[in-house]
Amino acid sequence: MRALVYSGPGARAWAKVPKPGILADTDAIVRVDTTTICGTDLHILKGDVPAVAAGRTLGHEAVGTVDAVGSSVRAVKAGDRVLVSCITSCGTCRYCRDGHAGQCLGGGGWILGHKINGTQAEYVRVPFADMSTYRVPPGADDEDVLMLADILPTSYEVGVLNGGVRPGDVVAVVGSGPIGLSAIACARLFSPSHIVAIDLAEARLEAAKQFGADVTVNNTSQDPVEVVRSLTGGLGADVAIEAVGVPAAFELAVQLSRPGGRIANIGMHGQPATLHLEEQWQRNITITTGLVDGYSTPTLMRLVSSLQIDAKRFITHRFSLGEFGEAYDVFARPAETGALKVVLSREI
Ligand SMILES: NC(=O)c1ccc[n+]([C@@H]2O[C@H](COP(=O)([O-])OP(=O)(O)OC[C@H]3O[C@@H](n4cnc5c(N)ncnc54)[C@H](O)[C@@H]3O)[C@@H](O)[C@H]2O)c1
Ligand SMILES: [Zn+2]
Ligand SMILES: [Zn+2]
Repeated sequence: MRALVYSGPGARAWAKVPKPGILADTDAIVRVDTTTICGTDLHILKGDVPAVAAGRTLGHEAVGTVDAVGSSVRAVKAGDRVLVSCITSCGTCRYCRDGHAGQCLGGGGWILGHKINGTQAEYVRVPFADMSTYRVPPGADDEDVLMLADILPTSYEVGVLNGGVRPGDVVAVVGSGPIGLSAIACARLFSPSHIVAIDLAEARLEAAKQFGADVTVNNTSQDPVEVVRSLTGGLGADVAIEAVGVPAAFELAVQLSRPGGRIANIGMHGQPATLHLEEQWQRNITITTGLVDGYSTPTLMRLVSSLQIDAKRFITHRFSLGEFGEAYDVFARPAETGALKVVLSREI
């Protein structure tokens, strides 16, 4: 079979590799029907994630068809259509039992396309298949469900729920990439009074309007702190969500928050950011961080199936699995290509 294999910073190829087999009786082998690329894969290709060794198949999002299961797998069987979540859950460790599989101590967590071979391939081995795959509801199509592998649970859990978005809140979202846009779509479920989207790129702010932002601010030309203060009688946002992963964006999110406000960081940071505790100590703020756990996936599956979240809207480009070269190229240049999520599907 073929897979998108990382071979060191900047190097990837759609290469011939052995088809994976069952290694543990809790494994499933899934034929990948649809997969996508995440900003995190670009971080890996830059060499920012040293845990990813040369020879690793990338990818942590897929919808596919179960090809084979180990002897103790009960929840899925060969032929079932399943969502493969970016988070694998052993189901038995302290964190998994607590709904925090992102922190799994039993060999799960974010392992696909990171510590073991991932989903950008014709077949993938999924450990702990009972806890780490979800049957696709009848009638739902692959493209809708695929957005539940990573971006929707990430923004919902780490952004909207950690940030405690409530009806009437003013919510500021820093960054309007796929993660920021899905934070906007999920925040809407809670009837905030205003969602303010902040980004450096006009194309992304246009997308933010489509996803439900009431106000957009290009912070190359406008001061978002002023805009948010003018909407809130000088106070600041009830909830500020950081969806970028650079120090300036986190520091802006803190500045945007009102006294007593909540700041939910989603971005993956590679550099230290400054928290001005000399200003913030007396402002009663709450800051949360998090890796997605995936506990909300069944809820989001219902919201997508009932069309309360339009998951397909994230998809801007479609390719076949053999076109990974072009797909990475389009995804890595969003300012020119307008890419949000690019989807790659098996040729039928
Ligand atoms: N916590 C988690 O579990 C988790 C899961 C998935 C992704 N992530 C992280 O979420 C972050 C966002 O992901 P994405 O795929 O949307 O990334 P992206 O790169 O597509 O989007 C980031 C957006 O931020 C904008 N931006 C950059 N600097 C800015 C600034 N100073 N102010 C305002 N906007 C700015 C960019 O123009 C871009 O539109 C990444 O760091 C990613 O690694 C975290
Ligand atoms: Zn991801
Ligand atoms: Zn676990």
